[in-house]
Amino acid sequence: MITAVDVIRTKRDGGELSTAQIDWVIDAYTKGDVADEQMSALAMAIFLNGALPREIADWTAAMIRSGITLDLAAVGKQCVDKHSTGGVGDKITLPLAPLVAAFGVAVPQLSGRGLGHTGGTLDKLESIPGFQVDLTEDRVVAQLKEIGAVICAATGDLAPADKKLYALRDITSTVESIPLIASSIMCKKIAEGADAIVLDVKVGSGAFMKDFARAKELAETMVRLGTDHGTDTRALLTDMSIPLGRTAGNALEVRESVEVLAGGGPADVVELTVALAEEMLAAAGQPDADPAAALQDGRAMDKWRAMIGAQGGDPDAPLPTARETEEVTADADGHVTEMDAYAVGVAAWRLGAGRERQGQPVQFGAGVEILKTVGEPVKAGEPVFRLHTDTPDRFAAAKESLAGRWSVGDAPVERGPIVLDRVTA
Ligand code: URA
Repeated sequence: MITAVDVIRTKRDGGELSTAQIDWVIDAYTKGDVADEQMSALAMAIFLNGALPREIADWTAAMIRSGITLDLAAVGKQCVDKHSTGGVGDKITLPLAPLVAAFGVAVPQLSGRGLGHTGGTLDKLESIPGFQVDLTEDRVVAQLKEIGAVICAATGDLAPADKKLYALRDITSTVESIPLIASSIMCKKIAEGADAIVLDVKVGSGAFMKDFARAKELAETMVRLGTDHGTDTRALLTDMSIPLGRTAGNALEVRESVEVLAGGGPADVVELTVALAEEMLAAAGQPDADPAAALQDGRAMDKWRAMIGAQGGDPDAPLPTARETEEVTADADGHVTEMDAYAVGVAAWRLGAGRERQGQPVQFGAGVEILKTVGEPVKAGEPVFRLHTDTPDRFAAAKESLAGRWSVGDAPVERGPIVLDRVTA
């Protein structure tokens, strides 16, 4: 007989869990037969002692089996999914899904809301008047058939074990564990039923994984999980030491995404969108496709408008703006040499773009606009950041987050590459 206490003791003492133990504990936890305090102890034991590839694979498979899996066969197209481990100003899903759909590939993006300093794709899209994120499976399939791109909320029936466990990890300081992150992300992605998965694994101060070696280990773990499951899985490791693009905050990021879809936008956002699109299209059997051209000639924009319209949104409606703005200025001439992504994420969150607890509302117009980014010249007195909020008493806390976390120096610095490495099976 398997008991929770035995399973916890095995991991606490650095032992290996059997497939039967893993299947049992995930099933019993999903049903409520293993208590939250027992699962917390097990998560901490895994956090401290790690897990073998076989254990991670079994854990992932058990979490997939805890709920439904989507059947995308009826879509009748190659389905390719993308996942980012999350970062500051990471709005890439917004231009990427319609861009890849413009090549006849289906892109089902089941996304989440923001928690803490990283924003959530659903919060961003909900800033578009009328946009609906709760769709039935039938509507998801119909929209994938007709338009090719869907960005909506994941149903609670998909990997419910992970939903429970992730909420528990969040409050027990057991999030930053490679076996737990890899299994959590991949169980949901595999349950979504796509033919291929492209992962954007972020590295740097604004990411879960602050250093390259750990980010690479996470990427390799996830690629192995997907591949062993029979899904073409690839990963790019990308820089998240400075914010992506020039905005962090819901409607601000939608505006920037629309600029990219219109053939403009910040160079780093365009570069990463195109790099991920190339991976997704290669995985869908189109290695020679030219996604950069589809941003320039309006094909991606047409798909964006169709997707927003199909989900009840008005692509032409003005986006919400915050009631108040304040600027943060440079006090010397020079070039911006550093800008800490985490600090910018926290500033946006404190301005009202994010939430502290699940279920809280967000301010759609709130956030940070970066007027001068790393490598750009600036003069004393010129604004570097513009802060946006409906509640001006938040400005002080946002400024405090930024203080000392960006700098101006004499020598111009070059921003390093966005794509740092690539991991394939
Ligand atoms: N995102 C997830 O879905 N799970 C994690 O554990 C971390 C990020």
